[in-house]
Amino acid sequence: MTQYLYHEEHGRLSMTDMDSRYELHLELSPSYYADGFWCMSQIIFRAPYDMGVLPITARDLKDYPESVRSLPIDPSKTHIEVGAGLGGFIQHVTAWCKPIAIDPAKYDVMERMLSDVHGRRLPRYVMNRLEVLLERCALIRDRNRVHLLNMTLGNALERHPELLASADVVVDHFGATEYVKNEDLAPAPHRDQALLIAERERQLLKPEGRLFLHF
Ligand SMILES: C[S@@+](CC[C@H](N)C(=O)[O-])C[C@H]1O[C@@H](n2cnc3c(N)ncnc32)[C@H](O)[C@@H]1O
Repeated sequence: MTQYLYHEEHGRLSMTDMDSRYELHLELSPSYYADGFWCMSQIIFRAPYDMGVLPITARDLKDYPESVRSLPIDPSKTHIEVGAGLGGFIQHVTAWCKPIAIDPAKYDVMERMLSDVHGRRLPRYVMNRLEVLLERCALIRDRNRVHLLNMTLGNALERHPELLASADVVVDHFGATEYVKNEDLAPAPHRDQALLIAERERQLLKPEGRLFLHF
């Protein structure tokens, strides 16, 4: 049976899944939920990666750069997000077509944890946010709506050669380029490794495709 460890302190509720060591952190203060506050501070996962325990964020589309927010979604085109996490871009694209998400995050674990905490008595604004994230988890796991490659970028390129030169739009918003150690690269300064990862992301693009990179 799944075992969770709950801890509440200083207005923050934390939950750890003892098997995966995934952590879920929720801010219980209404000010964190006020419009315009950076969504990363509201509800955030932390997961163990090779480079340590790192956040899996859930930024809303409004927190992505203007270049991504204003991008017209053409259903005839292929959209990929590398390091989708629980961000709002993939959900946005599904209103028009089926995007590809590349991310090794354990979405089944995150969905279970969100669902468990949703069963507790929490303020309405927290419940609202949990419901948004539960919807994103369900969506990204729905094979009819999203093509999820539940692995790192490097593994996706290796195991799915059909991805090469296939995309019109690739978005990396604090994704693979942020967590360089997940990409099996020779030792180098962080920025150089991030640029090498960006090169890998460019391999996904058609000649006229566009990469939207933020790290
Ligand atoms: C900080 S979150 C960003 C999530 C979302 N794009 C946002 O802006 O809120 C980083 C995400 O990148 C994923 N990630 C880390 N290394 C990766 C890699 N090598 N390939 C693909 N995704 C990776 C993590 O699992 C995590 O979900």
